[in-house]
Amino acid sequence: MGKNAIVFGATSGIGKELAKILFLNGYKVLITGRRIEKLQSLKSENPDHYYIRQHDITDLDDSVKVFDELPDIFEKVDLIIHNSGIGENNFDLDWEKDLPTLETNVLGASRIYQLSYNYFKNQGFGHLVSITSIASLVGNRHVPAYHASKAFQSNYMESLWMKAKRTKKAKIYITNILPGYVDTDIITGPTFWMAPLDKAVKQIYTAIQKKKRKAYITKRWSLVAILMRILPPQILVKFL
Ligand SMILES: NC(=O)c1ccc[n+]([C@@H]2O[C@H](COP(=O)([O-])OP(=O)(O)OC[C@H]3O[C@@H](n4cnc5c(N)ncnc54)[C@H](OP(=O)(O)O)[C@@H]3O)[C@@H](O)[C@H]2O)c1
Repeated sequence: MGKNAIVFGATSGIGKELAKILFLNGYKVLITGRRIEKLQSLKSENPDHYYIRQHDITDLDDSVKVFDELPDIFEKVDLIIHNSGIGENNFDLDWEKDLPTLETNVLGASRIYQLSYNYFKNQGFGHLVSITSIASLVGNRHVPAYHASKAFQSNYMESLWMKAKRTKKAKIYITNILPGYVDTDIITGPTFWMAPLDKAVKQIYTAIQKKKRKAYITKRWSLVAILMRILPPQILVKFL
């Protein structure tokens, strides 16, 4: 039997390229996101291998429905990738700017994590991947809600990894992907070490294949991760 996957947030950037690489590696892929025309466009490239479901991750009841509908599409799901995410600069700490980030990256993400884990527990196996961020490791005065939301995601994924390790009832793998800068629409301000999208997505797919617990993308960002852990906030504040 072939392999099946879901990519939450597959309309652009990292999620779209991941959906394509999964297709190329023999998966049938359920792709989701709010922009239906982008989903239709990707499906039109390989109509027999993509299934589309318009879905806003902040609609928590609709997330439940996505999982309820799965038996109509797939007999089993091998891999779920949570990729949907937003973030924007919030220099003046406007609540209106923070709220969508929190609804998407915190509430929306945790609903998908919880539904995915329980789905895999019932199924007896599965692999959950989340695209969090290097931003999860440290605060940032310009984008506090984004960094805090990514820290939430990263800790949630670590908790699920611990939970999966200790359960004997199901074989569940958990992978936390922490990209640095990747060349997509989400990037607005100044950057460094920006990875081309295809290079980043190849490294993400390799980490998924290896069922890694955690992977920095591209690999050189693991050096930044070490610096963020060892440098005191008094030094970090000069850069962040
Ligand atoms: N690019 C980077 O440098 C970078 C670095 C670290 C982490 N990341 C993370 O990587 C992930 C993908 O971002 P990207 O760089 O590929 O940017 P992107 O091209 O803007 O992609 C964001 C994806 O998230 C989906 N999304 C956003 N809000 C959603 C919602 N309410 N419901 C459902 N889907 C939603 C979008 O779909 P719709 O708009 O169609 O709904 C889109 O498919 C994000 O979680 C981001 O935080 C990116």
